[in-house]
Amino acid sequence: MARITAGLTTSHVPAIGAALDLGKSTSEYWQPVFSGYDWAKRWIAEEKPDVIVLVYNDHASAFSLEIITTFAIGCAESFAPADEGFGPRPVPVVQGHPDLAWHIAQSTILDEFDMTIVNKMDVDHGLTVPLSLVFGQPEAWPARVIPVPVNVVQYPPPTGNRCWELGEAIRRAVESYEEDLNVQIWGTGGMSHQLQGPRAGLINREFDISFLDRLTSDPEALRRMPHIEYVREAGSEAIELVMWLIMRGAMGDNPKELHRFYHVPASNTALGHIVMEPGR
Ligand code: DHB
Ligand code: FE
Repeated sequence: MARITAGLTTSHVPAIGAALDLGKSTSEYWQPVFSGYDWAKRWIAEEKPDVIVLVYNDHASAFSLEIITTFAIGCAESFAPADEGFGPRPVPVVQGHPDLAWHIAQSTILDEFDMTIVNKMDVDHGLTVPLSLVFGQPEAWPARVIPVPVNVVQYPPPTGNRCWELGEAIRRAVESYEEDLNVQIWGTGGMSHQLQGPRAGLINREFDISFLDRLTSDPEALRRMPHIEYVREAGSEAIELVMWLIMRGAMGDNPKELHRFYHVPASNTALGHIVMEPGR
């Protein structure tokens, strides 16, 4: 049987990808950011996941405002890095896992989640920057990846509770797949940041630390947190944090936090990263 063996969350700031691609990861500014992932690099080399279900948002790269999918799943054989204006990132093409992806699509849709099935899609910094942070610069990504894009760009995004429930459904789906696979689920985005308007540059450390704490200490409160609270407290783009709750929903009761990293600033955001082990 396939199993969800771990959950991971991380910010997916595009400037991090650019820093790595341009050889600046050891600079005074970026070294403290990248060193926050040394633990995860060692850990994942031991864990060797076969597949990563990677929850992220497309930033109008593959999709546009013409079609806005709330929850989608990438069922293709492979996903190329998107051109976000400066050419595609020089990172490996992402290899999918069509058979498991179709199984998750079937299981979640019959479980009453109306997933959009995507058979062709380029993947932007929301997906490639987390892979770079955790795996560095390999010739090929060492795990297959099932992209799960979530709309957090155009109002209304899904609620935190619905995200949580999708995470539970993804776990049920994975655990009903017959092949013996080591599957991780990652939730990306955040933490506090606002990219536009009079509050551009907003950071709220207190909110962020409390969010990191509550992922294990009081997840029910996060599950019920309304969108306006993310936006008011942590900035308009902090709404990306609802995607972390898909990871958290897949962890069950009483997961164990294995590792945490929090750093300000990374470009114009607060960066947060957690690794956890599911409760049984
Ligand atoms: C930026 C963009 C993002 O998608 C994000 O999650 C954080 C920061 C940016 O443009 O700086
Ligand atoms: Fe983003």
